[in-house]
Amino acid sequence: MAETFQMVVDYARSNRDRFTQELIEVLRIPSISTSAEHASHVLQCAQWLKDHLLTIGLQRAKVLPTELHPVVYGEYLSGSSLPTILIYGHYDVQPPDPFEQWTSSPFEPEIRTGKLYARGATDMKGQLMVALKAVESLLKMSDLLLNIKFILEGEEEIGSPSMDTFLKQNKRLLDADIVLNLDAGMASRGVPSITYGLRGLAYFEIHVRGPQSDLHSGLFGGVVHNPAQALCELIAGMHDANGRITLPGFYDQVQPLSKDERELLSQSPTDEQHYLTQTGVQKLWGEPDFTPLERIGARPTLEVNGLRSGFIGDGAKTVIPSEAMAKISMRLVPDQSPDEVHQQLRTYMASSAPDTIEWKVILLNSGAPSITNLETPISKAFERALETNWGRHVVYKREGGSIPIVEKMQQILGLDSILSGFALPEDQMHAPNENLDLDTWAHGIETVIQFFYNLAILKESNNVI
Ligand code: BES
Ligand code: MN
Repeated sequence: MAETFQMVVDYARSNRDRFTQELIEVLRIPSISTSAEHASHVLQCAQWLKDHLLTIGLQRAKVLPTELHPVVYGEYLSGSSLPTILIYGHYDVQPPDPFEQWTSSPFEPEIRTGKLYARGATDMKGQLMVALKAVESLLKMSDLLLNIKFILEGEEEIGSPSMDTFLKQNKRLLDADIVLNLDAGMASRGVPSITYGLRGLAYFEIHVRGPQSDLHSGLFGGVVHNPAQALCELIAGMHDANGRITLPGFYDQVQPLSKDERELLSQSPTDEQHYLTQTGVQKLWGEPDFTPLERIGARPTLEVNGLRSGFIGDGAKTVIPSEAMAKISMRLVPDQSPDEVHQQLRTYMASSAPDTIEWKVILLNSGAPSITNLETPISKAFERALETNWGRHVVYKREGGSIPIVEKMQQILGLDSILSGFALPEDQMHAPNENLDLDTWAHGIETVIQFFYNLAILKESNNVI
């Protein structure tokens, strides 16, 4: 066993340059799920992955249509009594804007000082390739017995709207013991991490309408309520002076943090200074009774993602805009639900919006929060792989980000996810100059290989679930 393990790792090491080239190839495809004009690229990416799954040695792989973007499914089955790992990934990416802030073009990957720059490099085509390349190394070099399935979706970055139906329709196909999801990251470079909580998301547009067309601000200022101002007043009322959200009932379902959990989270290396350095702000903001890490992982938040109204060109134009729009999103924690906060936002608007304007709230996408069980034998096998490979104890995290499918897989498939990954906080996820640290990436591939071997040992000791 030890001998073949070393051979598998050697294979991954000696093929690292080719692996990197293949990652570059898939990063060239602009699979931006949110823009309709990129739908053909999303499909092209799915097909590339399907072909790649066959190249690395899976027995079967196909592109399955959904209501929107396709799912890539693949499998390598060795026997029904063996553990089955369902490897999750998403191959869609966020839009690259602001385009002009990229040093190299987002879809023309470039390596500079050990980092690969491209949209999707770390979130999550790089992480997806960690799993694929670990499986390739295993299938090419060893006769280790294991069942491996892949589910790769093209809608994660828009809240996985088709995945409810897809999971319900493909329960048998996706039958497994556990999901491996590498879409969460490391607490910091060199610190192996497992995420056990993710926040949910509810994303809205608020439209405010005033006069039937833009007006001269001299002729009408003072008699018409400016919709941009009205919208800002409404937004300003959504938080109190302590950074708490004022929507009626917003905290009713929020689970308090236990003493034990606060203790566990306080062991993370992520302190106040970390956020100051990462963001470049001069002072942090937020609920004073919680640490920054608690505020991000275990408290709900409400953000303005964008505002549109009036004249924003160069120079001055004296105008009262006829409409204003804000993109507002909320990150949710157990046991909040997107439907409930949607209702709370409507109640707030109904009671706070002045009768000088008309308003409309549109729900764009949503996903529920999740907490995962860390105590299964298979998650322990992953934890041991992290510790062996990185030479230190694992840090447990609750992440501020969202992966809507995690809760859907719990509810619909009855499957927990091992949430981990090798993205670093400084990788510029969703931002200009997104990048992947290539040494960390290669180390990640070896970690996943180790995980597969740990499972085989579990199997020998008959300890498998
Ligand atoms: N990989 C991220 C989520 C993430 C980031 C998890 C960091 C853990 C650590 C994922 O691709 C993502 O960005 N999700 C979106 C989901 C949303 C659009 C429904 C998010 O969180 O904004
Ligand atoms: Mn993302």
